[in-house]
Amino acid sequence: MPASPGRSRESRPASLQSSGVSPGLGSAWPSVLPHITLGCVKCNFDASYHGIPSWDIGRPQPAFAELAEARAFCGRVLDVGCGTGEHALLAAAMGLPAAGVDVSPTAIEIATRKAAQRNLPVRFTVHDARNLGTLGEQFDTVIDSALFHVFSGEDRVRYVEGLHQMVKPGGRYFMLCFSAPRTSPPGVTRQEIEAAFVHGWRIDEIESATVAVWTKPFSFPAWRTAMTRI
Ligand SMILES: C[S@@+](CC[C@H](N)C(=O)[O-])C[C@H]1O[C@@H](n2cnc3c(N)ncnc32)[C@H](O)[C@@H]1O
Repeated sequence: MPASPGRSRESRPASLQSSGVSPGLGSAWPSVLPHITLGCVKCNFDASYHGIPSWDIGRPQPAFAELAEARAFCGRVLDVGCGTGEHALLAAAMGLPAAGVDVSPTAIEIATRKAAQRNLPVRFTVHDARNLGTLGEQFDTVIDSALFHVFSGEDRVRYVEGLHQMVKPGGRYFMLCFSAPRTSPPGVTRQEIEAAFVHGWRIDEIESATVAVWTKPFSFPAWRTAMTRI
């Protein structure tokens, strides 16, 4: 059985440490799907970080740890929808300049604290991934651990357009998302991924994988994808 992330309440933002907020172990996913308005996105995801959400396993997803071992990440790295930052921290530990963005201020506060505790120079910023173009920066590698499947319709289109603007030509985008069938949030089909990246990208690989969680059933079927920005 996978261990719980082992994050003590001391690593929570100061504002939450004495709040008596429950650890929220049952809150595997915000109850309202987060692509309705920015206000909802912030509230629901941010609230989940008042506990330890099931995806926040306190270490990189095994599917990405494997890529790191294979030295797939290079150059400037952005962890988009970074949560508490494990993938940006992984890249920084490999000696790569790394940054992370997330819509949740609480997640960013926890990630920033982890970076300080681990003495790793990672810049974590609150930013809406539907406006990546406004970051005004370009990256060689983008890691997306369980963000893509949050978006559908127009939000997905905006997200992928923003990605295209801020990944350098020849740069890579690595993504792990729930695969269909799954209802909340809906899993993604291989065809949906292909359709989203049909223009401006070369799809290098879409393979079956899992997203690890620290609550039962401990993992969900997923796609791990690798793309190159044309
Ligand atoms: C399933 S969690 C994954 C977090 C992290 N990548 C991980 O693997 O632990 C999805 C993350 O996406 C963030 N998110 C949702 N909508 C977002 C948006 N519009 N812009 C930026 N981040 C967003 C959430 O706050 C949450 O941290």
